[in-house]
This record gives sequence, structure tokens and C-alpha cells, in this order.
Amino acid sequence: MDPYDKQVVLITGCSAGGIGHALARAFAANNCLVVATSRSRGSMADLEQDHRFFLQELDVLSDASVQDVLSRVLERYGRIDVLVNNAGVQCVAPLAEIPLSALQNTFNTNVFGSMRLVQAVAPHMASRKKGKIVNVGSITVMAPGPWSGAYTASKAALHALTDTLRLELRPLGIDVINVVPGAVTSNIANSAIATYSRMPEWKLYKPFEAAIRERASFSQGIRSTPTEEFAKKTVAAVLKKNPPAWFSYGHLSTIVAIMHHLPLFIKDFIIRKAMKC
Ligand SMILES: NC(=O)c1ccc[n+]([C@@H]2O[C@H](COP(=O)([O-])OP(=O)(O)OC[C@H]3O[C@@H](n4cnc5c(N)ncnc54)[C@H](OP(=O)(O)O)[C@@H]3O)[C@@H](O)[C@H]2O)c1
Repeated sequence: MDPYDKQVVLITGCSAGGIGHALARAFAANNCLVVATSRSRGSMADLEQDHRFFLQELDVLSDASVQDVLSRVLERYGRIDVLVNNAGVQCVAPLAEIPLSALQNTFNTNVFGSMRLVQAVAPHMASRKKGKIVNVGSITVMAPGPWSGAYTASKAALHALTDTLRLELRPLGIDVINVVPGAVTSNIANSAIATYSRMPEWKLYKPFEAAIRERASFSQGIRSTPTEEFAKKTVAAVLKKNPPAWFSYGHLSTIVAIMHHLPLFIKDFIIRKAMKC
């Protein structure tokens, strides 16, 4: 098949075991040319010999890294049809004591990292009056709880930016899709625990230490949605001619979306029971 018939999809955060890696494989299975990116090429080693993937190291915190990858992709394929802002970090800590550097790092990755890619890719998509931008948010935004305030706030900011981008980019021919996962199997708990191990000892929240640590793994229970299943459904939605503005899927996504509409005192009661605070 002529490569010009295939959509070129660039995805951030494609380390093996995570949602980005599963999305990369699901887009490839749907006849797309996939630019799979992650901070280290070694984390995508299993995709190395497969011609459907163009592997690139990309750090969403770096302008130079984003620009380098973009020029290599445009040189090779001449276009980017779909950008998936998947790279993200979880961060658990009580807000009254979280080091501001940890709060900033969460926003830098989840919010500014995604915006860096949007600003880099939008002019190119606008010049073709064609393209799709997918931002990966989180269902936790619909019912924010304790211990993951930094992460939830960063994803809430991303949801708000996504809503505005959808309206602002529409006249330029670009569709914007908010993909909102529920609990999906990935490496997110491992990296959250690694970050948590670098946190200072809590002063006010010492008695909650176990509950805070547990929050890092909350999405990774036995009922979490398998990564492949999540990726397959997401890719089917994104590749539609008229993709939805909001696509949410995964364990707990429906129940949390319902909780969003409950009176605050009921919502708080349920969350306090679940999160032990
Ligand atoms: N899993 C869930 O239940 C769930 C629920 C809601 C939302 N989400 C969202 O889904 C997305 C994917 O997360 P995941 O669950 O698949 O977690 P994951 O397995 O930890 O994957 C996160 C990916 O982001 C990458 N990343 C982190 N910082 C980066 C940076 N500065 N530049 C480039 N890449 C960076 C990680 O790279 P390294 O391997 O180098 O660290 C990894 O490839 C995230 O946006 C997350 O917030 C996940």
C-alpha cells in the first residue's frame, strides 16, 4: 500500500507496559505509520525491528527534543496526521506539604509538556487544514480526592486547555479529542512510587503515610482494564471520520463520571471512605 494512504501518528510516552505503547501497537494494527516516542529508546526495544514504527527519543520537557523529532518526522513522512499527548506522571503527596518542585514537575510534564507538543504541531496541521490532537486526561478530574491533588489539578488544567483548544483549532481544520482513562493497567504506580520515595518525611500527615502510598497504586488493582483493550477502543474512537470530543473508557470511569454529579457532601463521604481520610 502507498505510504501516503496511511495516517502518520506521533505518540509521546511509549515505554513498554504503558498506555502509550499499547496505543502505538493499536494504531499500527489499524494501518497507521506510528512515530513511537519515549525518553529512552531502550524502553521501546520490542518495537525496534517492526517497519510500522519510527522510534524516536522525545522528552516533553525539552523544546529542542520536540523540535528535533518533529523535523525528522516531517523530513521522513512530510506530515503528522494525529498527535497523541500521552506522556504523563502521577504524583502522590498531601498538598499542604508537597515540595513545590514536585508540584511543578507534575504540571511541567502533564500540562506544559502537552502544550509544547500542541504548539509545535499545530502550525503544520493548520497548513494542511487537517489533523487530530488527542490529549490524555484522567477520570480522577471528575471526582478529585486526597493524596493525588497535584496530579488531578494538572489533569484538570489539561482538560480545560483541551476544551479551549477544541474550539480554537476547529477553524484551522484540527479536531481535538480528550481521552479520559479510568483505571488502566500500566507502569504508572511504579513510577509514582519511585517519585514518592524521594518525598520528604511528612510532618502533619505522618499518620496517613500508608494511605498516601496506597493512592499511588489505586488504579492498578486486579479489576483494572487491560492496556490492550483500552488502546483498541481508544484508537477506534480517534480514527473515526468525526471523532468524539470526549472519549472515556476503563475501570471505574462510569462510576466516577456519575459521582461527578452528586452533591459535594455525598461525594466527599464516598471519597473519604475509599481514601481513608
Ligand atoms: N493507567 C491509568 O490508570 C491512567 C488513568 C488515567 C490517566 N492516565 C494517563 O495515561 C497516560 C499514560 O500513563 P500510563 O498509565 O501508561 O503510565 P506509564 O506506564 O507510567 O506511562 C507514562 C509514560 O510517560 C512517559 N513520560 C514521563 N515523563 C516524560 C517526559 N518528560 N517526556 C516524555 N515521556 C515522559 C513515561 O516515560 P518513562 O518510562 O521514561 O518514565 C512513560 O512512557 C498518562 O498521561 C496518565 O496520566 C493513566
